[in-house]
Amino acid sequence: MALISIDMEKCIKDAACAAECPVKIIHFQGDFPRAVDGMEGFCINCGHCVAVCPTGALTHKNLAPEECPGIEPELAITPEQTEQFLRSRRSIRAYKKKPVEKELLSKVISLASHAPSGHNTQPVKWHVIHDRDELTKLCGHVVDWMRWMIKEQPQAAALLELDMVVKGHEAGMDIITRDAPHLILAHGRKDNPMAPPACTIALTWLELAFPSFGLGGCWCGFFNAAAMFWPPLQKELGLEDGHISYGAMMVGYPRYSYHRMPPRNVPVITGI
Ligand SMILES: Cc1cc2nc3c(=O)[nH]c(=O)nc-3n(C[C@H](O)[C@H](O)[C@H](O)COP(=O)(O)O)c2cc1C
Repeated sequence: MALISIDMEKCIKDAACAAECPVKIIHFQGDFPRAVDGMEGFCINCGHCVAVCPTGALTHKNLAPEECPGIEPELAITPEQTEQFLRSRRSIRAYKKKPVEKELLSKVISLASHAPSGHNTQPVKWHVIHDRDELTKLCGHVVDWMRWMIKEQPQAAALLELDMVVKGHEAGMDIITRDAPHLILAHGRKDNPMAPPACTIALTWLELAFPSFGLGGCWCGFFNAAAMFWPPLQKELGLEDGHISYGAMMVGYPRYSYHRMPPRNVPVITGI
């Protein structure tokens, strides 16, 4: 089967598919778009050729127009909505005891999986620690890592104020996961340079998606640092072979609502 096939009745020959193909393998011949012979292997299956066609004339070998939901213009958000959406996102550190349903977490993770990735390789895998008792046990390993850091790498430990976190832990406070009911890790292959940015972006999307589902989250830098460097925690996490966690996000139902949007530094911008 050809990489792309064209419904000649529907094709309006606007050349959008060829212009938007990131690897430039769609050309026009005989007035209709077609994949350049021998170049099919360069296709990254991003679906742009199908998604940009206004008439649904183009079918990709792996993707028919019917598999791509339409974009509803009435759901587009205004600049004012975008401003509030982005500015009202907050790191949530106080959660209700109520657990989040596994189906809901799967749904939000599925949405976050639409985040961009280099060459559309989609290298992110997810690991959810749903059981709070298990999370508490894992935090014990994080504290062990912190104690090791304080002893072996005191400068870095001081920079991260790890002694305060350890003291808090000893006093019964969870400064590592903020008593969040769950933790979500985004992980990828250690030898894949596209995995770290993809995981970071996907977790960012996840955090942005949470509020519309009534959820809140917070990056869990302490946990992830330990997950990257502390073998006992890695062993306990049991991620697949050759994988490492590139980011961790707490999640739960927020205990409080925010009512204002605090300012941030004016961005330093050069060139314009
Ligand atoms: C990579 C990263 C790691 C973070 N790690 C933690 C953490 O371990 N614990 C925590 O309470 N907040 C953590 N945060 C949240 C930041 O403290 C928070 O984003 C910042 O204070 C700004 O607040 P806002 O997110 O509500 O705008 C982290 C944020 C990022 C981006």
